[in-house]
Amino acid sequence: MEHEDSQRKQDMVKATAPGKVILFGEHAVVYGRPAIAVPLSEVRATAIIQPGRREGVLLLAPDLGLKRKLANADADDAIAIAVRQVQDAIGLDQLPDMTITVTSDIPIASGLGSGASITAAIVRALASYLGKGYLATDEWVSRLTFEVEKVYHGTPSGIDNTVVAYERPVYFVRQQPLNHIEAFEIARPLPLLIADTGVSSRTKAVVSDVRYAWQADSERFEYLFDSCGAIARIARDTIANGDLIQTGQLMNENQALLVDMTVSSLELNRLVAVAIGAGAYGAKLSGAGRGGNMIALVDDETELVVHTALLEAGARSVLSSRISA
Ligand code: MEV
Repeated sequence: MEHEDSQRKQDMVKATAPGKVILFGEHAVVYGRPAIAVPLSEVRATAIIQPGRREGVLLLAPDLGLKRKLANADADDAIAIAVRQVQDAIGLDQLPDMTITVTSDIPIASGLGSGASITAAIVRALASYLGKGYLATDEWVSRLTFEVEKVYHGTPSGIDNTVVAYERPVYFVRQQPLNHIEAFEIARPLPLLIADTGVSSRTKAVVSDVRYAWQADSERFEYLFDSCGAIARIARDTIANGDLIQTGQLMNENQALLVDMTVSSLELNRLVAVAIGAGAYGAKLSGAGRGGNMIALVDDETELVVHTALLEAGARSVLSSRISA
């Protein structure tokens, strides 16, 4: 895929990566069941790299008020880990002096893939800045982003790094030795509303809670994961056929399973109920849950009513997106 904004302008390089939404199968995907994710191109992370002034590698995240040298960065500093990943992959002993500035309009800890997106933007920009842009295929960017995700999320499935690096809808199955990644048809754009509960949620904590619950009652959780996987398989076809009614119904069924998994929350449940009450075809949480964002499938007629209802019900923000292949 072309990433037209990843370009070298004199000595400045800029790359961006999108946010993401999981349409079906979060959590179950960690346990090898299929899931469907789509990029959210309206919100993006951006990495800009410029030559430095004899200060080594300077890392800036102005939105967060962060400024530090790579040499002094903490061991768990995500930006530093991303930079080191690229340095190792390229096999450079030393990096030139440079300033790496990261900005993002993807809300943090909200299920929209902010971490993976920031990493993917850094990986792409840095490879290009170092004159190795030809290495930065989607597969390479995804692989390096996954390594950083592991530090942050413990046991990521790999779906987040895949969808933000490839920037296209994916039907994804975590597999050894290679994940199964399938592009799929979207017969008719999916009008989605993405509403933020305003409650932040750490993916790592929720994923590890699900792991404890699965260990405590594996029979029940295997059943829940199987059911999510079956829904994702059917949803691939209903989306390919442009069937909004069935797709919405499957979202509702997936949400019920996520409630059973204990990863929903009062705020998420309220927004889901409000969206459906206002005429959405279906609604569910998206991402790790316990906070973050929910998604609602609408159409041209219901979009405005559902959007307004979500805001009135306390959504911090509501984003509108048309998902297409
Ligand atoms: C997070 O966006 C999706 C989860 O399924 C975790 C993962 O797949 O790594 C909750």
